Amino acid sequence: MLKEEKLLEAAGDCGCEIHVIPETGSTNDDMKAMAAYGAPEGTVIVTDKQNTGKGRMGRSFFSPRSGVYLSMLLRPASDMVQALHFTVAAAVAVCRAVEKISGRKAEIKWVNDVYVDGRKVCGILAEGSVSGGRPDWVVVGIGTNITSPEGGFPEEFASRAGALFEGKNAPRDISELYAAELIKELRRCLSLSQDTIAEVISEYRRRSLVIGRDIVAVTPSGEKPCRAIDITDAAELMVEYPDGRRGILYSGEVSLKI
Ligand code: BTN
Repeated sequence: MLKEEKLLEAAGDCGCEIHVIPETGSTNDDMKAMAAYGAPEGTVIVTDKQNTGKGRMGRSFFSPRSGVYLSMLLRPASDMVQALHFTVAAAVAVCRAVEKISGRKAEIKWVNDVYVDGRKVCGILAEGSVSGGRPDWVVVGIGTNITSPEGGFPEEFASRAGALFEGKNAPRDISELYAAELIKELRRCLSLSQDTIAEVISEYRRRSLVIGRDIVAVTPSGEKPCRAIDITDAAELMVEYPDGRRGILYSGEVSLKI
């Protein structure tokens, strides 16, 4: 179980409320309930086990004891901020924390999966509520595999999933140190001033795993093979279809062609 004292000590004075909990259904659901009761900007819930973890596109998110599952509450002051910025900023924060804690290079598969050595080690799910045409709150949820789970990953994603520390030789208190580092980086990357947004998007582009590669875009109108050309300044994915037409993907998913 996560050691609260260790985590809080490592997070230092990060200017936010941190709730370390032993186990829960979904930290995103918990945070949404706290948002409704007026929890302040920056509040964090963190655990190392979820029983009903939620992934993107209505999927469930496998959340055994070997991971860190964290949600942060944001209350955007400006209605100019685009939803995509939250996941982009979170992905960059995760990469920085992963590299600092594991020493391994972290890359991003658009839009918000973090990969190490070709395996997904982290997923991000942002959920929000809009009132009067502007964002009331946004919950950014991040699940990271710190070590491989006992008995390995379930068969359906065993070939794609990875962990920061494979096997059992993870350094002592590494989950607490990772969670603290992630919280600090999230505070930096999610400050969302115009300068931070530009800096974060250019880092996001540098860390892209898809630019220049053949991919399959999963869109509401079906799966479309294409080539990823670039990440735009608004963090959308520019793609080129086999007939030479170019398009912009705003949301959805891509899979890499091997
Ligand atoms: C994905 O890869 O589909 C996104 C996964 C997001 C998982 C995180 S874990 C913390 C937070 N709580 C949840 O229930 N989901 C997010």
